[in-house]
Amino acid sequence: MAKEKFYLTTPLYYVNDVPHIGHAYTTIAADTLARFKRLAGYDVYLLTGTDEHGLKVQKAAKEANLPPKDLADKVVVTFIDLWKRLSISYDDFIRTTEKRHKKVVLEIFNKLYEKGDIYKGEYEGNYCTPCETFWPDAQVKDGKCPDCGRPTERLKEESYFFKMSKYQDELLDYIKKHENFIQPISRRHEIINFVKEGLRDISISRTAFKWGIPIPFDKKHIIYVWIDALTNYISAIGYLEDKKKFNRLWPADLHIIGKDILKFHAIIWPCILLAAEIEPPKRIFAHGWWTVEGEKMSKSKGNVVDPYEMVDEFGVDAFRYFLLREVPFGLDGDFSRDALINRINSDLANDLGNLVSRALTMVKRYFTGVVPRPDKEEREDKELKSLASDILPKIEKFINNLQFSEALEEIWKLVRETNRYIDHSQPWVLAKDKAREKRLGTVLYNSLESLRIITILIFSFMPVSSEKIWKQLGIKERLDKKTLESAKEWGRLPSGIKIGKIEAVFPRIEVKKV
Ligand code: MSP
Repeated sequence: MAKEKFYLTTPLYYVNDVPHIGHAYTTIAADTLARFKRLAGYDVYLLTGTDEHGLKVQKAAKEANLPPKDLADKVVVTFIDLWKRLSISYDDFIRTTEKRHKKVVLEIFNKLYEKGDIYKGEYEGNYCTPCETFWPDAQVKDGKCPDCGRPTERLKEESYFFKMSKYQDELLDYIKKHENFIQPISRRHEIINFVKEGLRDISISRTAFKWGIPIPFDKKHIIYVWIDALTNYISAIGYLEDKKKFNRLWPADLHIIGKDILKFHAIIWPCILLAAEIEPPKRIFAHGWWTVEGEKMSKSKGNVVDPYEMVDEFGVDAFRYFLLREVPFGLDGDFSRDALINRINSDLANDLGNLVSRALTMVKRYFTGVVPRPDKEEREDKELKSLASDILPKIEKFINNLQFSEALEEIWKLVRETNRYIDHSQPWVLAKDKAREKRLGTVLYNSLESLRIITILIFSFMPVSSEKIWKQLGIKERLDKKTLESAKEWGRLPSGIKIGKIEAVFPRIEVKKV
């Protein structure tokens, strides 16, 4: 039977600057879900890329004294490199300056123009370049952008407009009929209320700069960067050039985005698609924002968290773990080194790292590194077994709802329980009594078996460390080729195999006292 597809996307990141923690966050979340769905047997397609046109990038290029495309070529490498270091398993990376993309933007533009959904007019109002957003006067106070608070620019220029007002009812209807279309639920309400107040036609071209896709029949107009960028979700999967692929993957199963770009995704994008007679995506999930030590992150404050530094200092998986564990996905969170170090030391080094090293060390010491055979089952064995073999459906539910933090919390119940099981069974005492060797074997087998299940469950979150643990367990089959189902099958760890070389997976971070 053909596998069911799962097409998910990250936003396309602006290339005006190098990546920061916010970019890493969205992408790590998408990667975790993608990995989990692959293990669950889906034919997953994860798309990411860069948003390279528009005034914001043009301005940054000017400051860097480079042509915009050169700046894009330079910055895109930092994204690609970061995704590699963060173990992002994307299937395609699209740049909006690519031909395959530009063609589709023009196709959609023409389609809407011919249909009469795009008309020429004049835009008078404000523009926020950092947000690449048009703001009508009524929403702007003291010339400041209502979203980011930075100064807007006053515009009065000829512009093409998209008749978004025409799609208001259809969009509302779509949202209401598709309960999961916009998540979390608070965001859904926000959008419903916004749409109910009435949608205006939106300006979709600019004449004041050059960096973008010109309208073929009116070349002084550059297509609005958001219309350009949003189209990537269909251009990348062959809307024009590979209909078979497109029909297999579209509609997208999920767009993961930050809350700041929800209106573009939940209003403008579906309206464009409705106008182009293409089905809207199935689901859009808007996550929250990170502040840093209680403050908004900004270059001028100098508090931008550099994901490269985090990976160098703490390791890729500790960083991935922290971002997804610390804050429920969908809510805002605060980043601090202290919080990160606490998580590493308590959850990773103390709980999981300790479990790995003590369980394996005892197998090495008491059974010459050969996984023992379990014997008679006692009450506490049964309890551990039932906890471990019943955990998967809960985790699946959480992850499918993008409740990463809750999923990890649940996995950690098993980690702690396994540690408790060892404490309580006291293998070091059993080892002193030859008559209790079978019991000792049972306890250690069960500890490793629980660890095997834990390792499968954390793979999507911490791909590098889980592979290390897997290797130490001595299992020959590849972890990334395992099916999730095997996490339900207690007893799959073969007795008699030799465990691998024991190495610390999560070293403790020593905090220097000042
Ligand atoms: N180019 C647009 C998206 C176009 S999608 C067709 C864009 N790019 S961005 O580079 O500014 O931001 C991309 C993502 O980073 C967004 O999802 C945004 O929410 C996220 N973050 C940026 N700063 C963030 C935080 N401080 N915290 C969490 N995520 C944040 O928008």
